[in-house]
Amino acid sequence: MSFDRSIKIAPSILSADFANFGQEIQAVEAQGADWIHVDVMDGHFVPNLTFGPATCAAIRPHIKTVMDVHLMIAPVDPYIQAFADAGADILTAHLEAGPHIHRTLQAIRAAGCKAGLALNPGTGLDDLPYLLDMVDLICVMTVNPGFGGQKFIHSQVDKVKRLREMIGDRPIHIEIDGGITPDTAPLMAQAGADVLVAGSAVFKGGSVTNPTPYGENIRAIRIAAG
Ligand code: DX5
Ligand code: ZN
Repeated sequence: MSFDRSIKIAPSILSADFANFGQEIQAVEAQGADWIHVDVMDGHFVPNLTFGPATCAAIRPHIKTVMDVHLMIAPVDPYIQAFADAGADILTAHLEAGPHIHRTLQAIRAAGCKAGLALNPGTGLDDLPYLLDMVDLICVMTVNPGFGGQKFIHSQVDKVKRLREMIGDRPIHIEIDGGITPDTAPLMAQAGADVLVAGSAVFKGGSVTNPTPYGENIRAIRIAAG
């Protein structure tokens, strides 16, 4: 994975057909997805459950781009090796998931993955100076994590602008997750984000037998982002 700040669209398979992940991934990649965003939820850190490392390992061979795994779980550390073994390129843990995020980020890199740090909408940037040199990606949540299809929280635009300044020349991606549409994407692209996760806005109107809307939806977000 080489680093660049061009806009990348990362469809979240949370909005895909759960009975058909392999084909859904192939369809969105063929339609222009840059990364595949994989939402892992534990019913404890967030009020919803999805799947774990076994499903990640099963879908890995279908991903030709980048497997971007968003861990909405607590604790994180006991599961890092399993997600690394499943083939994650990026493993993102939440700052709020426990008292030892520094150790968690060290462990993610030690397991051979790029390290991501996710921030809930209510979390500030105060702790970041102590973590910036340990991360490859910062994920700014623009909804409260747990569900697809929620409304974009506008207060996060200013947070991303300040985050972009803090990052400076460091090779750290800024990823936005939640409520991304052609309306909200430009706000975040202008604020300095380069990875736009989109679930409902990518998968709406399409299916594996009718994937053309996936491509139209991805292009609409990309064009709006500029
Ligand atoms: C929310 C997840 C998101 C979600 C985004 O907890 O982390 O990745 O799938 O879905 P949309 O784009 O529908 O807001
Ligand atoms: Zn996510």
